Amino acid sequence: MRNKASTTLTLVLLTLTLLSTTYSDDLIDQTCKKTPYYELCSNIIHSNPATPSDPKGMVVIMINYTIVNATNTLNYIEDLIKKVTDHELEHKLTFCAESYIPAIKYVLPQAVGSINRGNFGFANYSISYAEKDIVACNKKFTGNQSPLSSRNGIMLQLLDISAAILKILLNG
Ligand SMILES: *[C@@H]1O[C@H](CO)[C@@H](O)[C@H](O)[C@H]1NC(C)=O
Ligand SMILES: *[C@@H]1O[C@H](CO)[C@@H](O)[C@H](O)[C@H]1NC(C)=O
Repeated sequence: MRNKASTTLTLVLLTLTLLSTTYSDDLIDQTCKKTPYYELCSNIIHSNPATPSDPKGMVVIMINYTIVNATNTLNYIEDLIKKVTDHELEHKLTFCAESYIPAIKYVLPQAVGSINRGNFGFANYSISYAEKDIVACNKKFTGNQSPLSSRNGIMLQLLDISAAILKILLNG
């Protein structure tokens, strides 16, 4: 008798766990489908150890990820600056480092703070501000000459995903 009851309880708990996991995965994918880069969005959110329960949690994970990625790129730029001998290239790379630094230190952490306070409009403004800086770095180089074009490209995709999720939050 006792065993049966505990088996039933286990089954109920298991079902509840499965239901909540399914719901959450489904919510994540539905939200990611409303962004321009579904796969990138879905991969990043699903590989994060904490499962978000709403779009607000998703955008915080996205921005955190963006800060980590931007930090990698900044380290890469600083290594390049040490190696280059061409002064013009060095100048352009320094400009780009100066675009990444405020995004990492202030703009993106401020966006997370705004989201936590429910100020999605200001967070959206911060994301646009960071995008403008990355675009300005890209414009320093002509054509495919930029050693940063693919990294800047990923940054813009990551920021676009956050902007799209913020748009949902602003309209909801
Ligand atoms: C985002 O990063 C901050 C600072 O590193 C951390 O405190 C917070 O827990 C992270 N949030 C998520 C949802 O990963
Ligand atoms: C987000 O900010 C951009 C740039 O300031 C603006 O064009 C856009 O309308 C804003 N989006 C929303 C949903 O408010």
